[in-house]
Amino acid sequence: MKTFQARDAQKGRFARKVVLITGASEKGIGGAIALRLANEGAVVVVASRSEPARLLEQLRGRHRDCQFLPCDVTREDEVRSAVAQCQSRFGTLDVLVNNAGVERIVRLEEVDDATMAEILDTNLTGSIRMTRAVLPCLRSPGGVIVNVSSALSLAGCAGFSIYSASKAGINGFTQSLAWELAPRGQRVVAVAPGVVLTKMSTGYREHLTPETAHKVRSCHPLDVGLTSDVAAAVAFLASDEARWITGVTLPLGWSPCIPLPVEEYFAAEEKQGIRG
Ligand SMILES: NC(=O)c1ccc[n+]([C@@H]2O[C@H](COP(=O)([O-])OP(=O)(O)OC[C@H]3O[C@@H](n4cnc5c(N)ncnc54)[C@H](OP(=O)(O)O)[C@@H]3O)[C@@H](O)[C@H]2O)c1
Repeated sequence: MKTFQARDAQKGRFARKVVLITGASEKGIGGAIALRLANEGAVVVVASRSEPARLLEQLRGRHRDCQFLPCDVTREDEVRSAVAQCQSRFGTLDVLVNNAGVERIVRLEEVDDATMAEILDTNLTGSIRMTRAVLPCLRSPGGVIVNVSSALSLAGCAGFSIYSASKAGINGFTQSLAWELAPRGQRVVAVAPGVVLTKMSTGYREHLTPETAHKVRSCHPLDVGLTSDVAAAVAFLASDEARWITGVTLPLGWSPCIPLPVEEYFAAEEKQGIRG
């Protein structure tokens, strides 16, 4: 699989810009976004519960200013404190990426309140809480909020009803807040990736048979994705090049599909002499 190398990227789109990313794990989507935006000149602030030591090392190794802020997005006090620290060190914030998230695969009849609350409070309310805290210091005009949604907000799958609900909530939040912030010259967008190879998705993929793994890949017209694919889309949407884009949720690696047995349709047509 070909990867998009950060060095190929357009340089400098984020020069002198300050970007706050929630939940930037080393091998996850947030980490890839952090590296990508730093490579394009951004000062990166990462906020999550555990410190991604290697990621921070990599960022500093590239001579990029960066900071880690311990923050649980389900905790109002921690969110406020992280934003206050960010503001006192860097002043105005240019981009917020709401990436922190949890995924639990569970049937609705088996889900307990604690799990339900964890998913909704992290993925949906956590993003809203962080956005609300950031607004007073978000650049106006020019500030951008990028929400990391999921293809599961656009298409259904058994076992993901709560996760899907949390991410579909993100899409609605994105479209309405875009209208609210447009008069200030600020944009709100979301990306909705299909399966991306990270700890979140590989945890259970490791236990799948090759046939099942093949089925997972087949749900994606262009195969499953890499963290760098998501980072590239976020970099574009957060940049000034996307100045006319707001309120939308961009699907990544996913396209609507009705899975009819087309090969059998073709065979039937041939039998009937419809096809040459
Ligand atoms: N991987 C996929 O296939 C896929 C597809 C579509 C969408 N997504 C979305 O992409 C985002 C990143 O996922 P990933 O695949 O990169 O998974 P990941 O590596 O597990 O990253 C999730 C990050 O969220 C942080 N986090 C979780 N709960 C948090 C909380 N309460 N407060 C602050 N940070 C918290 C985690 O760090 P700590 O535990 O240290 O806090 C971690 O850094 C998620 O929103 C996920 O739903 C993933």
